[in-house]
Amino acid sequence: MRLARAATGRFKTLSFWDAFHGAGTGASALSGEMLFRSGPAAPMVAGSEHVAPFACYACAYGYKTDANGNPPLELCNTACARMVDYVLSREGDVACVVAEPARAVPYIPPPGFWNIVREACHKRGALLIFDEIPTGLGKTGRMFASEHDGVEPDILVMGKALGGGILPIAAVIAREDLDVAQDFAFGHYTHEKNPVTAAAALETIAVIEDEGLVENAARVGRVALDRMAEMKAKHASIGDVRGRGLLLGMELVTDHETREPAGDLAEAVLYRALDAGLSFKTTMGNVLTLTPPLTVTESQMMEALDIIDAALSAEGA
Ligand SMILES: Cc1ncc(COP(=O)(O)O)c(C=O)c1O
Repeated sequence: MRLARAATGRFKTLSFWDAFHGAGTGASALSGEMLFRSGPAAPMVAGSEHVAPFACYACAYGYKTDANGNPPLELCNTACARMVDYVLSREGDVACVVAEPARAVPYIPPPGFWNIVREACHKRGALLIFDEIPTGLGKTGRMFASEHDGVEPDILVMGKALGGGILPIAAVIAREDLDVAQDFAFGHYTHEKNPVTAAAALETIAVIEDEGLVENAARVGRVALDRMAEMKAKHASIGDVRGRGLLLGMELVTDHETREPAGDLAEAVLYRALDAGLSFKTTMGNVLTLTPPLTVTESQMMEALDIIDAALSAEGA
């Protein structure tokens, strides 16, 4: 964010409601979850604008996906992406658009979404920053989630997997001409530029490449998504299944028409799964979010889905 401000000379940011970008004051201002923006977290940084995110199954603009989860593009005309252009044009001086290229809920961008936003950023002079902290380094079956959409950000942020899931290290990758940090005093951290975590990060990248873990994520993810589609046909409570690679989700609803979130059911399934030895998280209250490690095997993945299948059956759902 500071790099974008330094590079553009502008102050405002544009990001998405429901996103999470971190717990510090600046990151909370970019984030869009009420839980982390109210109470002791407030007040936020001024100039942090938000728009509704892509979320085709629960579209903020009221458009409905078809039975296969596809958005009605000829009807909606990707309204969620066009609103980014609209806000950038009305604000006029936004430094950067910050977003997860594939939302960790998960939500997968509708076709063309990022091309429209990329173009809007070019046109309005804003930088595009992709937060690939959960998705970077192979989670979605490509090294970076943004590769699926053929769109290059100006700045990309990575973390989590970079330290092999164990050591704390994050990185910012920027276009060469944006490397302006040496001209500014941004302050510093005692533990930055740590040689141990830097060595671990390089080794992590080497292991991911040498062991073909990105390809594994793509392959196991495809099989898992097929199995999840079968589960959707079997369990009335599963409203939508979606994902890319090993970023997978099942959205539980009380009614397919209204898509009312089945939060209590999601929680009951979570605890049944924990009892059976499977740990995962629920997102937005009703999405069973599965993000196994890149090393997961097909049989482990099927075992995990067997557990969820059985938990849903036990709940009569
Ligand atoms: C999309 C996204 N961005 C940023 C963060 C924050 O990363 P960190 O905890 O390393 O600050 C997270 C953490 O969950 C995340 O999911």
